Amino acid sequence: MFPERFSNLPDYAFPRLRALLDAHAPGGPVRHMTIGEPKHAFPPWITGILTDYAAEFGRYPPNDGTPELRAAMTGWIARRYGVHLDPERQVMPLNGTREGLYNAAMALCPETRNGARPVVLTPNPFYQVYAVAALSVGAEPVYVPATAETGHLPDYTSLPEEVLERTALCYICSPANPQGAVADEAYWRELIGLAEKHDFRILADECYSEIYRDTPPPGALQVAHSMGADPERVVIFHSLSKRSNLPGLRAGFVAGGPECMARIKQLRNYAGAPLPMPIQRVAERVWADEAHVETNRALYRTKYLMADRILGNVPGYVPPQAGFFLWLPVEDGETAALKLWQETGTRVLPGAYLSRETAQGNPGKGYIRVAMVADADETEAGLTTIKDCLYGSA
Ligand SMILES: Cc1ncc(COP(=O)(O)O)c(C=O)c1O
Repeated sequence: MFPERFSNLPDYAFPRLRALLDAHAPGGPVRHMTIGEPKHAFPPWITGILTDYAAEFGRYPPNDGTPELRAAMTGWIARRYGVHLDPERQVMPLNGTREGLYNAAMALCPETRNGARPVVLTPNPFYQVYAVAALSVGAEPVYVPATAETGHLPDYTSLPEEVLERTALCYICSPANPQGAVADEAYWRELIGLAEKHDFRILADECYSEIYRDTPPPGALQVAHSMGADPERVVIFHSLSKRSNLPGLRAGFVAGGPECMARIKQLRNYAGAPLPMPIQRVAERVWADEAHVETNRALYRTKYLMADRILGNVPGYVPPQAGFFLWLPVEDGETAALKLWQETGTRVLPGAYLSRETAQGNPGKGYIRVAMVADADETEAGLTTIKDCLYGSA
């Protein structure tokens, strides 16, 4: 009496981590470097906006977002990417990007593709909602390795013709969680060209786009626009969770071609959960402000340099270009995470919990993911502990 399609889902990463570690005592003061929950301060002025508009909790909010919020989101897109979208038809707010990434597959994946079961491409390792979205719409998720050999991004161009002909959607995360790799313009051009050739849609998860070292990562929409690609080709997802340290606000957006957006909006009219009005008012102001984003980025910049200094000599260390994770090579991620916990009290995530076993093995098995979300002192202490415990004198 339960759907078979989810029967092979592995347990989610964090219950798995608890099962691995919690039967053992920590070997020191407990330090969490597992979850990607920003710890820097969010803009303090949002609380005043929330209280100013608190009476609006008494109203049903508009599903598509207030006109002011939509204008703030398209204004941000125009400033960041130089692309001018129609705020009426090409953007809508989300309760954070996770639900949007899931629901976009519901709205956009056809029942069949060239007469066969559709394929949804996802990088491997990946943000786990992509796979559940694919399964929920009855598509076949195809996990494409994003490893050191492929620059830590999936090489979708290497897929067999038979798979590409059945592909309806492809998820891509840039900057990538967990590896911190950034798709450059050439990567986007190739992927968009492939999608044009095989007529599939790109769902670009860009929620780490504002956390980078020096150069802003190029966006999928920006490159698609410069190529003159079909405006329906790319759908982008952005969030205030990482950009503005507001993971609990649950505010992001989806933007793309008018037809894709009409389909997403229609589904949400039936089944969506619109953002409460006071949250829409806050989001409007936060998208319009860049000062707090620059301050936040400077804090991460310090931590990238810290990671390079402390771990730069570790064989296989790849300096993250963006985001706030380190993807560190180890012999076995579970063994390393357990050793760290038992010897030092530091918690990190085994890479295999973020990736799938395929015919080529599990590409996350030889990695741990380390979240650099705490303040600089705490992060420095954590990284030094990891270096000393796992890599000795490297
Ligand atoms: C790659 C990636 N995409 C999407 C999300 C979802 O973020 P939110 O729903 O808070 O916008 C996360 C959060 O950790 C993430 O790491």
